[in-house]
Amino acid sequence: MYNGGKIILGLIIFLLLITLPVWFNIATGTSKYKPNPKILPGQTECVAPANYMRTSHMRLLDEWRDEVVRHQRRYGEINGKIYELSLSNTCMKCHSNKKEFCDECHNFADVNPYCWECHIEPKEK
Ligand code: HEC
Ligand code: HEC
Ligand code: HEC
Repeated sequence: MYNGGKIILGLIIFLLLITLPVWFNIATGTSKYKPNPKILPGQTECVAPANYMRTSHMRLLDEWRDEVVRHQRRYGEINGKIYELSLSNTCMKCHSNKKEFCDECHNFADVNPYCWECHIEPKEK
């Protein structure tokens, strides 16, 4: 007949082995996966320094929306350059690879901005 004890012991060892990477990450407090948003070739700088954009792009977008919707100002100056204050026409012109750029981070951080219900997403190639 079957040897129940050995089978269960075998199963436990098997489970420990296949979940080893998980235990390793918990023990070292790190995960190898980090989001890697892809900047398209030919672009060198954002509308503001990358550090600021990384942490505060949502705030900047809110400011742009308020400028347009509340104050009817469609253009604004940042560091001496004039930009159209537009999610689709400005941000998404440079970051037209939404899936590899915006979504790369958002999936990792588990945020799902609802903007695309109204604003046009870039057409991906
Ligand atoms: C003129 C092209 C251009 C425009 C317009 C632009 N970006 Fe960028 N963006 C870039 C480039 C190039 C980088 C990388 C800059 C660097 O690494 O110094 C970048 C970096 C970023 C980052 C940080 C990425 C990282 O790797 O951490 C975020 C977030 C971002 N942009 C969001 C936006 C948003 C939101 C808008 C509109 C408000 C916008 N960008 C408009 C070209 C642009
Ligand atoms: C470097 C990683 C990164 C990149 C690249 C990035 N985001 Fe984000 N974004 C985040 C994180 C993290 C949050 C959540 C921040 C929080 O909750 O405080 C966020 C939040 C947002 C929010 C607010 C959502 C909400 O529900 O509060 C908007 C809008 C947004 N991002 C737009 C964009 C757009 C548009 C792009 C591409 C042009 C982009 N982001 C690229 C990391 C990124
Ligand atoms: C229910 C529909 C709706 C949703 C959802 C929505 N917006 Fe808008 N947004 C609008 C409308 C309408 C305007 C005014 C358009 C105009 O006058 O050009 C606007 C204008 C803007 C503008 C300035 C004009 C432009 O062309 O971009 C920004 C920036 C903006 N929204 C950002 C956002 C962001 C970021 C989100 C997600 C966090 C978002 N919006 C979600 C409807 C929406």
